[in-house]
Amino acid sequence: MSQYSEEIKRRRTFAIVSHPDAGKTTLTEKLLLFGGAIHVAGAVKSNKIKKTATSDWMEIEKQRGISVATSVMAFDYEDHKVNILDTPGHQDFAEDTFRTLTAVDSVIIVIDIAKGVEAQTRKLMEVCRMRKTPVIVFVNKMDRDGKDPFDLLDEIEEELQIKVRPLSWPIDMGQRFKGVYNIYEKKLDLYTPSKQYVTEKIGFDDINNPELEDHIGINLADKLRSDIELIEGVYPEFDVNTYLRGDIAPVFFGSALNNFGVKELLDCFIKIAPSPRPIQAVERVVDPEEDNFTGFIFKIHANMDPNHRSCIAFVKICSGRFERNANYKHVRFGKQMRFSSPTAFMAQKKETVDEAFAGDIIGLPDTGNFKIGDTLTSGEELHFKGLPSFSPEMFKYIENADPMKAKQLNKGIEQLMDEGVAQLFTNQFNGRKIIGTVGQLQFEVIQYRLLHEYGAQCKWEPISLYKACWIESDNQVALENFKKRKSQYMALDKEGRDVYLADSGYVLTMAQQDFPDIKFHFTSEF
Ligand code: G4P
Repeated sequence: MSQYSEEIKRRRTFAIVSHPDAGKTTLTEKLLLFGGAIHVAGAVKSNKIKKTATSDWMEIEKQRGISVATSVMAFDYEDHKVNILDTPGHQDFAEDTFRTLTAVDSVIIVIDIAKGVEAQTRKLMEVCRMRKTPVIVFVNKMDRDGKDPFDLLDEIEEELQIKVRPLSWPIDMGQRFKGVYNIYEKKLDLYTPSKQYVTEKIGFDDINNPELEDHIGINLADKLRSDIELIEGVYPEFDVNTYLRGDIAPVFFGSALNNFGVKELLDCFIKIAPSPRPIQAVERVVDPEEDNFTGFIFKIHANMDPNHRSCIAFVKICSGRFERNANYKHVRFGKQMRFSSPTAFMAQKKETVDEAFAGDIIGLPDTGNFKIGDTLTSGEELHFKGLPSFSPEMFKYIENADPMKAKQLNKGIEQLMDEGVAQLFTNQFNGRKIIGTVGQLQFEVIQYRLLHEYGAQCKWEPISLYKACWIESDNQVALENFKKRKSQYMALDKEGRDVYLADSGYVLTMAQQDFPDIKFHFTSEF
């Protein structure tokens, strides 16, 4: 047992994720209200770069400022320290969200009752499944008309490929929404539309108690009883360990805007959600309660002030205690570093901290020493595994538009890639650089930042590609053969791994057929 055990066990580090507009920001704000971290609704300005397809640059610049402040929101709630990690709302920044998921111990997924499971939710859940992250689902906007709750649960199971278990159940919806029955606590929670007011719960150990009718009327009482009977019959008993293994997702219903069902969610969350979990490094599994500090960089936030290239590197502490001004090893460089002004994020304030524990996120001011995935330790040679890169969806050649600034351009590209803005592939045939992104917006981000932070000008040239596949084979001859045949389409990624750039789905299928000994991977780790 570690001397820090108590501190570490009380931590709950998680992210709220959703498809844009499902209510992530609203829910976050309500959680902060309960934590006493803010005192009025409306205080959290989301970091969401408004979701419209258009890319308004000034808006993004503005939002980037806000998003440092809201990157991590920490507060104390009933002896627990809750760390909420914010994720960008705009889908073009999905990679950022994926990376943030490497730093959390659990996730709350918000789903809009009317819209059901949407594209972004599906992708995010894929990452959670890959990492076996425990997930709680919050079905939001019950004050609006939407899908039948049973149908929605089926949809979640099917589309997100996870078993569900309702822990609360709505009583009607939309204008007729009466409230929820909290199955977990066996309490009736009646709805009054209000943005600030928290409703009183009424204990109902037995919903067959005729008093139920006094509260919600005979028809709804009958319906609720039969719904609950159905739930108990169809869904397995809720088991915390199954949830912790990532095999079942408890579901809550409510309305974040009306602060309804949120406290139940939070109360249950702090009870069942995991404290910091062991993390697999390349060398071994690291237990959070080990005495020695270890951590990794999961996000780098570039400077707002273009005149100084300084960033904040966000560290997830994986084990032990981090101390200000102590010496830590930057494993990739093999050198010692000291940090005199690490910051923590309490509520919306950023402040220098003297110590932090496993589960916490700290920000380290950085001038280009870090890249995503870097490990810091008390001295051990350890490497945490990052999240694999996914094949980008869009590709463009990047060309230098100012011959005098070639050096700046290369440096800028390299640092932006370290920060994880996009992926770089170098064509092995002609040496041209190709940038791959998940959204159109990234190209504009890169161009703008190259100019403003590095004084370099780039221009984009179209290249028609379908996917980037990392290739491998036990058969060296086949591999060499493939590379020769496809030499025009072979590239190296930033780590020097072989990548095949397929220009169409058809070509890729043909390649897979013609070269059965070669494995084609759509993520960089396999
Ligand atoms: P996001 O971060 O997931 O993108 O969603 P956000 O919280 O910004 O919510 C998106 C919209 O949905 C907001 O309306 C918000 O007020 C509304 N909303 C959130 N929760 C509920 C709910 O429980 N019931 C209802 N009826 N609406 C909800 P907006 O018009 O886009 O913004 P605003 O002007 O109201 O802030």
